[in-house]
Amino acid sequence: MTAAAPTSAKPRILISRAIFPQVVDRLASHFDVESNQADELWSPQDIARRLQGKQGALTTGSERVDAALLAQCPGLKICANMAVGYNNFDLPAMTAAGVLATNAPGVLTETTADMGFALMMATARRITEGEHYLRAGQWDRWAYDMLIGQDVHGATLGIIGMGRIGQAIARRGALGFGMKVLYHNRSRLPEADEAAVGAQYVSKQDLLRRADHVVLVVPYSAESHHTIGAAELALMKRSATLTNIARGGIVDDHALAHALQTGQIAAAGLDVFEGEPKVIPELLACTNVVLTPHIASATVPTRLAMANLAADNLIDFLLHGKALTPLNP
Ligand code: DGY
Repeated sequence: MTAAAPTSAKPRILISRAIFPQVVDRLASHFDVESNQADELWSPQDIARRLQGKQGALTTGSERVDAALLAQCPGLKICANMAVGYNNFDLPAMTAAGVLATNAPGVLTETTADMGFALMMATARRITEGEHYLRAGQWDRWAYDMLIGQDVHGATLGIIGMGRIGQAIARRGALGFGMKVLYHNRSRLPEADEAAVGAQYVSKQDLLRRADHVVLVVPYSAESHHTIGAAELALMKRSATLTNIARGGIVDDHALAHALQTGQIAAAGLDVFEGEPKVIPELLACTNVVLTPHIASATVPTRLAMANLAADNLIDFLLHGKALTPLNP
């Protein structure tokens, strides 16, 4: 993929959602910038119209970049996603259109792993359920079996998807909480990486049968769609928890709601949903689920680092011809 031939005019870029003003200012020192700092919800048609005459776009995971959009934006050279996930990009269509795609890996690993662990703990120890109970004025005495949850320390952690974030969760579990770590991944880790956290590679079925807490950290693709559905939930222990910090669509939300309602598994922690920001009523009605609105990477240093990495990709590619984290070089 090659950048536009340099001209004396500044390249023009679009920033499709509101981001940190200091990153907009940084980009404005290199480019002619149109930015959506009002954070309006632009339709694909609005985005296509605003991309006319632009060479670059800084996108978030919410904007779809596909053949239909690309056909309307012949001058576009690069879309830099401010997210590690890039299932909003149709990569083959971008490659065919000669548009470079970049994402923001690495900078959100530890923050996202923290959130995975927080959700797993909140789910296992019924923290939000306890808070609702207390706020509703239902707490009138101590009881030996009130809001009994599952232990996290010493339990078996099953991680599906063992990339950077999966490994960061494994470290927390093994080194901080004395957990036994099982994992399943498309490819097995080098032995040294497995040994560092004592992680054992197992089949998905074996993991689901043995884990006390299952955490999903796989990227979304046609292959990972409904990695967890009714058949997989049926394999899990009735005492088990399921945490999804990866992407909606990796879990069949209807099957999960049914498993939660019928006690097939104990509880779930979800940061992502099929069709988000909508959440199906069946899940909202379950008390044994902790729900957060896709905030696993939401801390100031991490979101700033993600925005700056997307900005670096635009600057490096449009001004110097080489991006830092290309997906389809
Ligand atoms: C990512 O980086 O993919 C996150 O889901 C965005 O918040």
